[in-house]
Amino acid sequence: MQLATDAKIYVAGHGGLVGSAIVRRLQAAGYRNLLTRSRAEVDLTDRDAVDDLFRAEKPEYVFDAAAKVGGIQVNERYPADFIRDNLLIQTNVVDAAYRAGVKKLVFLGTSCIYPKLAPQPVKEEYLLTGPLEPTNEAYAIAKVSGIKLCQAYRKQFGFNAITLMPTNIYGPGDNFNLETSHVLPALLRKCHEAKIGASPRVIVWGSGSPRREFLYVDDLADACVHLMDCYDDGQIINVGTGEDVSIADLAHLLKEVTGYRGDIEFDLSKPDGTPRKLLDVSRLTATGWHYRTDLRSGIENTYRWFLDNPESRRT
Ligand SMILES: NC(=O)c1ccc[n+]([C@@H]2O[C@H](COP(=O)([O-])OP(=O)(O)OC[C@H]3O[C@@H](n4cnc5c(N)ncnc54)[C@H](OP(=O)(O)O)[C@@H]3O)[C@@H](O)[C@H]2O)c1
Repeated sequence: MQLATDAKIYVAGHGGLVGSAIVRRLQAAGYRNLLTRSRAEVDLTDRDAVDDLFRAEKPEYVFDAAAKVGGIQVNERYPADFIRDNLLIQTNVVDAAYRAGVKKLVFLGTSCIYPKLAPQPVKEEYLLTGPLEPTNEAYAIAKVSGIKLCQAYRKQFGFNAITLMPTNIYGPGDNFNLETSHVLPALLRKCHEAKIGASPRVIVWGSGSPRREFLYVDDLADACVHLMDCYDDGQIINVGTGEDVSIADLAHLLKEVTGYRGDIEFDLSKPDGTPRKLLDVSRLTATGWHYRTDLRSGIENTYRWFLDNPESRRT
């Protein structure tokens, strides 16, 4: 099935990293009937506001990229905010979408839903087979509930909601606030600022040996649209590159791209976290999709965007 270019498509969270890339991708493909609302217009934690939106606008398709998202520090400090807001947003959106007759909904989960010590690479069936990483447990539990919510609506009501589990995402529009950001944008900013300040070293937490997977946000958006078109299964599906990189290699790549000439040093007193986090993407590959943007090109694009958007560092 290919969505008609005049289909009415609601992108929830269109101002965020992932939502804005989905909008870019849909616009580039000629979709011209997109529905977006800022948080000031519709707070998605407000059930009545969400119901009113769906009743009035009657979208046919929904990408749910709205969520409360953040790095380790904020997840640890504000677990109540993370579990409450995410439970509310996803419940309101999925329920209102079903009741308003939406034809299909794409729910964005996260690879944090998998057990901390899951065998690598992580297959979809490892969901709920072991304890979660404690630092973002509240967020992950909300996202697991989102998956189960979509699967329950499919089972009980026949609602076509599909659930995607993306790996770590980066790219233009990322959050570069050092208090709240993820590892790649945080290290990119640190290398940039060390270059500007002629600082002799950039300190990276831990040994640099943990391995992580990174997917460029426009590739994720492409996968979201591809799966909206062709994937109608209730089972969750991983979205990633299927390739990983050590934090040390990532730091050196960021150093090269930003043109920083000082040293990268590793603070061994800080914890390393899970040694490896890599998704098994064979289910995704079987649908005919593969990522396009290699890590260096993606980081180069991201750095260009960072330089052109200085306000991204303060928000
Ligand atoms: N970033 C990653 O590495 C990553 C990895 C895997 C999965 N994902 C998933 O992808 C989805 C999007 O993440 P992202 O990185 O794009 O996050 P993001 O940049 O923080 O964007 C989230 C969006 O949701 C909106 N939002 C949050 N609370 C809202 C509310 N109460 N009412 C209305 N809108 C609200 C935000 O609006 P404001 O701008 O007003 O806050 C923002 O536009 C999430 O489900 C996340 O789990 C992300």
